Amino acid sequence: RKDLLDISSLDREEIDLLLDQAVPFKELFTRSVKKVPTLKGKSVLMLFYEPSTRTHSSFEVAAKRLSADVTNFDVPHSSVVKGESVRETIETLQAMRTDFIVVRHGRSGLPGMIAGMTKASVINAGDGAHAHPTQALLDAFTLKEVFPDLTGKKVLIIGDILHSRVARSTSTILKRLGVQVAYLGPGSLVPKCGPENTVRFTDYAEAMKWKPDVVYLLRVQMERQDVQYFPSLREYHKVYGVTEERLKQIDGEGLYLMHPGPVNRGVELCDGAMDYSRSLINRQVENGIAVRMAVLYWLKPAEE
Ligand code: CP
Repeated sequence: RKDLLDISSLDREEIDLLLDQAVPFKELFTRSVKKVPTLKGKSVLMLFYEPSTRTHSSFEVAAKRLSADVTNFDVPHSSVVKGESVRETIETLQAMRTDFIVVRHGRSGLPGMIAGMTKASVINAGDGAHAHPTQALLDAFTLKEVFPDLTGKKVLIIGDILHSRVARSTSTILKRLGVQVAYLGPGSLVPKCGPENTVRFTDYAEAMKWKPDVVYLLRVQMERQDVQYFPSLREYHKVYGVTEERLKQIDGEGLYLMHPGPVNRGVELCDGAMDYSRSLINRQVENGIAVRMAVLYWLKPAEE
């Protein structure tokens, strides 16, 4: 496969292959092997039109651990600010014969458009509310470490499902792996359409009666909200957040906690949740490197 644009276009065999491939890459770190020569002589271009901490840095670390050369395209200091189009940027970068382009953009579908313009392998690092396939892969990888057989496990995703590329991609991969997925959030932010057989809740207590194994919190993305339709952050925490009291219930029932980051403390979760013993949040970040190494190893740029 040349590009990784979303989870829906992967078949089950490809998902299993990527998740299996990430295992030996993770084992390398535990054996303190910092670098392997797999992508020596290849180049990776990081093209981030939107901010990122985890995805950007873990792709950079992953590429360097595979011995690839990494170039960070500095959007704010590039000719993009002078009005250069995405097409012109890509054509310019194509002339430099890069092998991989890792792209994040606020517009849904833009990585797909770029993939059609270049021989380089394009990896979607998050596009608008559409997809975030490597987040989904690292979420699935992390869950499989806890539950080697995911069949029948239940994951409750809480938050703004409507604007969330993470919810879209992660629920798609989890369903492919046999997980039951439910959404909980304000009615206006939980879409009526979407993946089949997804249970939808608007009430926290009702959702907990569904007996999830994992509570997956989404970041409240104020940058994508029409504030007119969004409750205040305090109100959101009270109604949908993991408060100290709810954390006790989550602990009592032995549930795991996930969040793609960055976390809004006091909104999606209380301070105590950051130190919760069954929080997988740091492990998600750690696993992001191995999963992204597996993706870079697997994709094949088009022949010149
Ligand atoms: N989860 C995630 O995409 O985080 P960043 O925005 O920091 O990359």
